[in-house]
Amino acid sequence: MIFLVGNWKMAPERISEAQKVAVGTAKITKYFKKQLAVIICPPFPYLSLVSKAAKGVRLGAQAVSHNTDVAHTGQVSAPILKQFGVQYCIVGHSESRLAGDTNERVHEQVLRLLDKKIIPIVCVGEQKRDSQGWYLGTVKEQIETALATVPKAALKNIIIAYEPVWAIGNKAERTATPIECQEMVIYIRKILRDRYDEKFSNVPVILYGGSVDEKNAKSFITEGKAQGLLVGRVSLELKRFTALAANIAK
Ligand code: PGA
Repeated sequence: MIFLVGNWKMAPERISEAQKVAVGTAKITKYFKKQLAVIICPPFPYLSLVSKAAKGVRLGAQAVSHNTDVAHTGQVSAPILKQFGVQYCIVGHSESRLAGDTNERVHEQVLRLLDKKIIPIVCVGEQKRDSQGWYLGTVKEQIETALATVPKAALKNIIIAYEPVWAIGNKAERTATPIECQEMVIYIRKILRDRYDEKFSNVPVILYGGSVDEKNAKSFITEGKAQGLLVGRVSLELKRFTALAANIAK
């Protein structure tokens, strides 16, 4: 099963458009149900709409509060997400890290989610690449801290998404190459092996994200060895998202 996650971020602006994309994504999901596990992560106010309009699509959220007591205006807790049918939740996205989420906070969010049986999609990735390999240390620290107290038995409920910050969004320097992706997948498995053991290092699903489109998607799976993709902009363009899904499913 290949995971295909659509991160809608703060879009679309109009409810009618959200409805249209949700219905279209449901069609893709139905058509490729043998090959793909499709997850949509819409803005919070669209969660109900997506769960009704997109039958068969798995529901994800884009954020969760690390806090447990209710006095946190503007935040949403894991127990609330659970009641809306949320099965997955993105944490540690570079845009959330930019807004103040630290590795420690991501760890707490992971615990809140696991507690409610919601699967965290833990995003990791360096700001920049350097020739000395310092960027590897960044990713190592992100993973080790995010999973600090996560036991082996919970790894089957963890997804890790490698998203190099320099490859994300319309300000991306360039797209990562499948080889860069493959190296990082191997490196992430090594971090997990050192932290847990050989057997459990292969348990979490690893995704790639950052300027994935209908043309490059397949290469991140075949050469890049990612088990799925986290897609931003293209997940809102139905024609292109359908082509992307078809490419990786075949
Ligand atoms: P992008 O975003 O596909 O638009 O680059 C990916 C992400 O930020 O998750």
